[in-house]
Amino acid sequence: MWGNNYSSVYSTYPKLRARSGQVEDIPKRVNDCFERSLNGQGLDTSSKEMKALIEYITWIGHNQPKGEKTYGSGILKLAFLDRAANPQKGQLVYQEKCQSCHMANGEGIMNADGNEYQYPPLWGEHSYNSGAGLFRMSNLAGYAKSNMPFGASFAYPILSDEEAWDVAAYINSQPRPSFNNTNDWPDISKKPIDHPFGPFADNFSEKQHKYGPFTDIKTWKEQHSK
Ligand code: HEC
Repeated sequence: MWGNNYSSVYSTYPKLRARSGQVEDIPKRVNDCFERSLNGQGLDTSSKEMKALIEYITWIGHNQPKGEKTYGSGILKLAFLDRAANPQKGQLVYQEKCQSCHMANGEGIMNADGNEYQYPPLWGEHSYNSGAGLFRMSNLAGYAKSNMPFGASFAYPILSDEEAWDVAAYINSQPRPSFNNTNDWPDISKKPIDHPFGPFADNFSEKQHKYGPFTDIKTWKEQHSK
């Protein structure tokens, strides 16, 4: 639950996504993850790997009524802190609760065969890039709260909300590959509160859009949406 699982992909795609401003089908969505979360290249949509992924996603989700989401799909939304998330505090959380697997420089650990990660990198050249969903603080904090350290769950979380936000601030302040996202969110008024790249419809800084505090931005948005 809340591990960004596939349960509601089949029932909700194709759909109009504000990030691209386009109607996206499942192959487009899958390739988004290859290009952003995996910082790689998209698959040929007629390849057997893409067909297998679509089959899998269809099989997982085919009992879900069209248009409806299962509870626990996607990523948990944490309440906002009343302060900016703090990378220095987050570093202490990281050292205590994350570093044993993801390593001191966020580089993760490969498996014994050296062909896949046992513990994925969280920053550096092999990590997700700046166009990935996890580069948004709310996604990283919500994912961490309900899944990390490995063994934690929504029912049995280990991190407090504050620790989750702060460790997310630490991780997302580290270097990572950059993604050319100038075409993202063509309607800037639809940018999520924590999308960290301007221009914005409001006057809050990129820094505040990245780390918070988010409540003022949220209030502004509510006042300016029709
Ligand atoms: C005991 C080992 C362990 C510890 C400790 C741990 N993780 Fe993880 N982490 C994992 C494993 C294994 C995965 C891959 C999970 C999967 O693929 O389902 C993972 C995946 C992740 C991911 C997803 C990365 C990606 O690109 O897909 C994030 C983010 C993450 N961990 C954050 C954290 C944070 C933050 C902490 C500390 C609060 C933490 N982890 C502590 C083992 C660990």
